[in-house]
Amino acid sequence: MGQEKKLALITGAGRGIGKVIALQLAKSGADIALTDLNPELEDLKSELNKLGSQCLDFQVDVTDPEAIDKMVSEVVGSQGRIDILVNNAGITQDNLMMRMKAEQWSKVIDVNLNGVFHITRAVLKTMMKQRSGKIISISSVVGFSGNPGQVNYSSTKAALVGFTKSLAREVGSRGITVNAVAPGFIDTAMTQALNETQQEEILRQIPLKRMGMPEDIAHAVDFLASEKADYITGTVLHVNGGMY
Ligand SMILES: NC(=O)c1ccc[n+]([C@@H]2O[C@H](COP(=O)([O-])OP(=O)(O)OC[C@H]3O[C@@H](n4cnc5c(N)ncnc54)[C@H](O)[C@@H]3O)[C@@H](O)[C@H]2O)c1
Repeated sequence: MGQEKKLALITGAGRGIGKVIALQLAKSGADIALTDLNPELEDLKSELNKLGSQCLDFQVDVTDPEAIDKMVSEVVGSQGRIDILVNNAGITQDNLMMRMKAEQWSKVIDVNLNGVFHITRAVLKTMMKQRSGKIISISSVVGFSGNPGQVNYSSTKAALVGFTKSLAREVGSRGITVNAVAPGFIDTAMTQALNETQQEEILRQIPLKRMGMPEDIAHAVDFLASEKADYITGTVLHVNGGMY
């Protein structure tokens, strides 16, 4: 990033990949608006402050459009701008298709896809006025490869690719880039929930023979959020150790 202080808004920033993205963007000089369903953001806030980053935090559910609009107004009211949006919040509710409940299907679509719609639309107004912005959504390797037991989750992650490509075409003339990062299997609570056999099976499929670290994803997001990626839009950056 250049000299000017940027404001980055990150969803699901309370832990895992989102937290490390917040730390990385702060190291690159951005101020941060943290949002998460989980209200416990104080420790992360003070870590970000130590990195010289001004930090706002909001307990917001990405499925609640009214709360999102209020939060975005507060961020713009206080910081005057939003330069980077990272759509990171996401959940899994795995089940084989034959056993999948309608609620498991709907909940995952609501958080992983509808949530991205609500927050991106809210932030876009500001970016359109600024005539600049970087929108980065966290997809997944399973949106490309498929994964048994994840028909709901992989559908949302594949949908983010269409979302990214279409929006990139809509807003490119306003200086806004829209990209996605598709992580492979990353060592976070989401993958620690897998049993040992599932983890061994995953490692077998990864040419680089290790799970990714949240930092691997944060570096990719940091690049797409930087001026170095100004001419990149509508694309997906795969960060998966070569598994796909
Ligand atoms: N861990 C992986 O291997 C992996 C692989 C590919 C993609 N991803 C994607 O990366 C993103 C982050 O994953 P992670 O592994 O860090 O997950 P995580 O479960 O550790 O963290 C997700 C965060 O999102 C928040 N969140 C959940 N629902 C929310 C909601 N409705 N509103 C606001 N915040 C909400 C949670 O509170 C949590 O802090 C997700 O989109 C996930 O699908 C993860």
